[in-house]
Amino acid sequence: MGLKGSLFWNTLRLHQWVAKQSNLRLLTIPRGDFTCIRTMGYDAVSKPALGLYEKGGDYCRHRAIELAREEIGDKPGNVAELGVYKGETAKVINHAFPDRKLFLYDTFSFFDGGPLETKDGTSARNYAEAHRNNASPSFDGTEILKKCLPYSENCVFRKGYFPDTAAPDADEKFIFVSIDVDFCDTVYKGLEFFYPRLLEGGYLFLAVYNFACENDVDRRCKQALIDAEKAFGPFKKVPLPDWRGTLVIVK
Ligand SMILES: C[S@@+](CC[C@H](N)C(=O)[O-])C[C@H]1O[C@@H](n2cnc3c(N)ncnc32)[C@H](O)[C@@H]1O
Repeated sequence: MGLKGSLFWNTLRLHQWVAKQSNLRLLTIPRGDFTCIRTMGYDAVSKPALGLYEKGGDYCRHRAIELAREEIGDKPGNVAELGVYKGETAKVINHAFPDRKLFLYDTFSFFDGGPLETKDGTSARNYAEAHRNNASPSFDGTEILKKCLPYSENCVFRKGYFPDTAAPDADEKFIFVSIDVDFCDTVYKGLEFFYPRLLEGGYLFLAVYNFACENDVDRRCKQALIDAEKAFGPFKKVPLPDWRGTLVIVK
């Protein structure tokens, strides 16, 4: 079957119709091998960080972070991400919580030469490309990230192996945490560190929970969560239908 008449086509037509009735704009965003369709109803009134999404970010997860931020309001607490890579999600967190301290935990050594746009609009691509072949634990990507994060002055970079790098932060409290690591032992270590430090009313976004159709990593990450619940009691859980199979834990 061609595009016309396919489920995708019918869904697109439906979204086009809804958008027209509501006088809204409809964007289609290429994302890997599929296309994400969304209407812009709430976006039209709630001022999302749209510039960050139009190039194809994980819209559902990143927009959910912004909506969680609206629920959090003025409640106190720091924000954090474990597993930062090139900062795609860290940018959204930093943008959503401009006045809060953002703790970032990663080895910051896996830059592979993709384009990185800095906040003044220049591209750090050449710098990253120059270091492409040196992606090793000695490579320090934090300088590139500082140029990409909108409020980098509020960011604390914990470079190295987590949980070792979290030792100075034992007394910190968090209102929002993103854990986005592909290794299940790190998932458990992340939950073990952050869950007891998550404040009442806080959100923890755990990526790679429902990811890649129940593959091995997926199953082991679920096991990490089961183990954490045994240690800390049952979590309040909301799964998201986003690209990374995120589970939201609310305290
Ligand atoms: C999937 S990427 C993160 C993607 C990122 N959150 C984003 O939205 O673009 C996973 C990252 O976790 C980091 N990571 C995994 N285990 C780690 C550990 N034990 N200590 C430090 N960093 C770790 C890796 O270095 C990698 O950059």
